[in-house]
Amino acid sequence: MKALSFISYLDGFAILMKKIKLSEQSPLMSPSFIFGVATSSFQIEGAADRREPCIWDKFCAQPGRIKDASNGIHACQHIDRWQQDVELVASLGVDAYRFSIAWGRVIRANGSVNKEGLAFYVGLVDRLAELGIAAHVTLYHWDLPQYLEDQGGWLNRDTAQRFAEYAEVVVKALGNKVASYATLNEPFCSAYLSYEAGIHAPGYRDRKKGRQAAHHLLLAHGLAIPILRRHAPKAEHGIVLNFSPCHPYSCKEKDRTAAKLAHSYHNLWYLQALLKGTYPDLGDRLKANELPDIQQGDMALISTPIDFLGVNYYTRTVFREKNGWFSDVPPTEQPLTTMGWEIYAEGLTEVLLDLQQSMGGLPKIYITENGAAFPDQLENQSVHDSARIDYYQKHLHAVQDCIEQGIPIQGYFAWSLLDNFEWAEGYTQRFGIVYVNFETQERVLKDSARALQTLWQERKQQVEAVKA
Ligand code: FCB
Repeated sequence: MKALSFISYLDGFAILMKKIKLSEQSPLMSPSFIFGVATSSFQIEGAADRREPCIWDKFCAQPGRIKDASNGIHACQHIDRWQQDVELVASLGVDAYRFSIAWGRVIRANGSVNKEGLAFYVGLVDRLAELGIAAHVTLYHWDLPQYLEDQGGWLNRDTAQRFAEYAEVVVKALGNKVASYATLNEPFCSAYLSYEAGIHAPGYRDRKKGRQAAHHLLLAHGLAIPILRRHAPKAEHGIVLNFSPCHPYSCKEKDRTAAKLAHSYHNLWYLQALLKGTYPDLGDRLKANELPDIQQGDMALISTPIDFLGVNYYTRTVFREKNGWFSDVPPTEQPLTTMGWEIYAEGLTEVLLDLQQSMGGLPKIYITENGAAFPDQLENQSVHDSARIDYYQKHLHAVQDCIEQGIPIQGYFAWSLLDNFEWAEGYTQRFGIVYVNFETQERVLKDSARALQTLWQERKQQVEAVKA
């Protein structure tokens, strides 16, 4: 008995001591690499009464759309608790913080600027600057104002123009105080999941709508880039895309073809348009009436040069052929995250090497999101999330592998700072490195936050020692 309890004591100690290790020579330890944490407006802000309603408010109010029937009305109450949250960010020892701006907190339905809303973001950026933390801003992380959806949303070409106007208001207020501006977060989600698969707001299921929304989103990006550059010439300007390697379910020719089609449709559709000014050739897979309407000059606008590409990476996806199209096969073999996603760190290296080769090079990259949801339990003010520590360890090594193989990765942001509203999954998925008690709004650092904090603090000491 005694021996057993001694072993479990040691086990507990080992859990507490679990570290994320990188060698001193790792490119991730160099002073030019940046580490940060990421969040998005709708997922944490709350204070819905101080902004215009967005498509997610309406979607959440529809029965059956959100797993736990929740919404983003309060979320993490970040608007009221932002000062403590920023102190928390600083305490982690990060170089950078990535967050998004809620369009409807800045531009009212009548087109005027919501001065208080805009002032919130100015205050946030100023405080980050005081703390020596670089601000990485995303202008659109899926919370389209409902007043624009009422005019057709991303199916209306005019929304791209409205986005460029909104971007101008933001960049005039924040200018060079921001290190990087990303126009869009994951247009795949705001187009495919939202207009084609019906999983995200506004919840359409229509292939033509999906392609059209994707085109207008990319157009919005292309219209905004020169405006952002003009008003913030010292900042970097780019976009955030999500990638997942697409693997065939079997070695049968039809499944291999399906996986290739999924890769073109989900990954290349966005990247090739941005870097080459063309959509991938899908042969006759898309019918004429499913193709987006493209006007002359659109592709040139979309492929306006960018300074960086934000990459969000979570897992790989397996596809099989179904009715002449592709269909994803959910993984079943454990270990899986609570999202049901496979932990597949090598997929990051695989997909980026593949894209680098097919695009003939990639711009400077920030990994703008990477992380996992696990069944975290708060016990005695601690969360022993060793699976998340392992996840980060593996993925940071994958980032290192990428760099060693010539992928120009310059930064890494953990998703997410806080447990938050995980879209159609509501509050059932905890992605934070910081635990949020949604009853009390208390924040508790999980073991993963402590492990990252130790890594980041050690790295800072190493950088300081080299400077001295
Ligand atoms: C990404 C989203 C982010 C979060 C993570 C888990 O697709 O950008 O908001 O939901 O997935």
